[in-house]
Amino acid sequence: MTQDKLDRRAREILIANDRGGYTVPNGRVYPFQWNWDSAFVSMGFAAFDAARGWREIETLFAGQWEDGFLPHIVFWKDDAGYFPGPAVWATGHTPPTSGITQPPVAASAVRALWERGDQARFRPHLERLFPKLLAWHRWIARVRDPLGQGLAVIVHPWESGRDNSPEWDGPSELIDTSRVGSYERRDTSHLDQSMRPTKLDYDRYVALVQFGRALGWNHERIGQESPFRVVDVGTTMILLRANRDLLALAEVLQCRAEAEELRRSVARAENGISWLWNERVGAYCSRDLITGESADVVTSASFLSFYAGVRNEDRDRRLLEHLERIGRRVKYLVPSLDPVSTRFDSIRYWRGPVWAVINYLIGSGLTAAGHAQWGERIRADTGKLLEQAGMYEYFCPLTGRGIGGDDFSWTAAVWLHWARGVERDSAHAVSGAGP
Ligand code: GLC
Repeated sequence: MTQDKLDRRAREILIANDRGGYTVPNGRVYPFQWNWDSAFVSMGFAAFDAARGWREIETLFAGQWEDGFLPHIVFWKDDAGYFPGPAVWATGHTPPTSGITQPPVAASAVRALWERGDQARFRPHLERLFPKLLAWHRWIARVRDPLGQGLAVIVHPWESGRDNSPEWDGPSELIDTSRVGSYERRDTSHLDQSMRPTKLDYDRYVALVQFGRALGWNHERIGQESPFRVVDVGTTMILLRANRDLLALAEVLQCRAEAEELRRSVARAENGISWLWNERVGAYCSRDLITGESADVVTSASFLSFYAGVRNEDRDRRLLEHLERIGRRVKYLVPSLDPVSTRFDSIRYWRGPVWAVINYLIGSGLTAAGHAQWGERIRADTGKLLEQAGMYEYFCPLTGRGIGGDDFSWTAAVWLHWARGVERDSAHAVSGAGP
């Protein structure tokens, strides 16, 4: 397919998945508004309709709770095609939402939208969104950073956005599934079971939803008492980058005190990040807050340090060695799990497949960090996958086959914003990068 045709296809997908101000990731499998999906989608829309890009984020924030919490799903309309729906979450919020969050990409998306131009027109949008973004980041700092080091804790694997990553296998053993009861999964009625999380994974997901609901979605208590509390390397890196981007926006708006606060958050995370460095593995890894154990495995999230603006010559070199080694084993970078791992499964969701959004974060981060050849390799691999297979949810790193849902919104968005290959420096630049 030519680039023009792919551009057209990607635009058609976003428009078809638009439900009037918000976009569903995929009409059948994911019929609601998802938090970080919308952040990526906004950048895709902005490539051809800037106002619609801003609207995507504004609609997402219409689901924000009063204390700043931004849910991972907003259920604008009920739909029987997904489990667990609003009645299972029972958060009592209007509009109905889930009770957990997702990686905070939104501030970085807003910065990208802002820097695309037409700033006189969009300044009021930025002014309205800035305090909401800040409130969310403050919520994360207050409720999800128990070590006070800028390291983000997740209380449900879904919060990582990498649902069944092996990083959660060890920490999930503490989840009691004996009282989960019966429920009907909907994902496996749309898609092949071999591509999806297992029954045990799902029992644990449901048990954690029941746990939160039993605590009345009191996030302070969940943050202290949940049987699953893991410092997620992905969320932590994304948050660090988002704080840098929000800082840049605070400077635009001349919000001095807020800028100072964000500078402190960035500095805290830059110092704290070493807690996730696993010297034996030679990579940043998620780490269980309860047991202190490292996930001990290289995943695609390990490479997000470049995107976060974390710089350390020795560690960067070791990460690039991993990338090189992994690149010799797969046809397409970046598999979600190191292919030498015994748990690698080339088609099972976050245990091997390539995801376009993660490639965007890793690839643009590498380019911004001065590793343009790597950034370009990952961008080109992403482009090839989308071109050959279509805008699928994820891809087999060995064959390039498209897997999961087709016509996927965030995959289309990543094409328009990045994978198609027109550099947009401002959206990729990391300001105030660390030493
Ligand atoms: C899956 C993914 C998650 C995404 C959601 C909607 O749960 O793991 O990252 O946000 O689908 O696309």
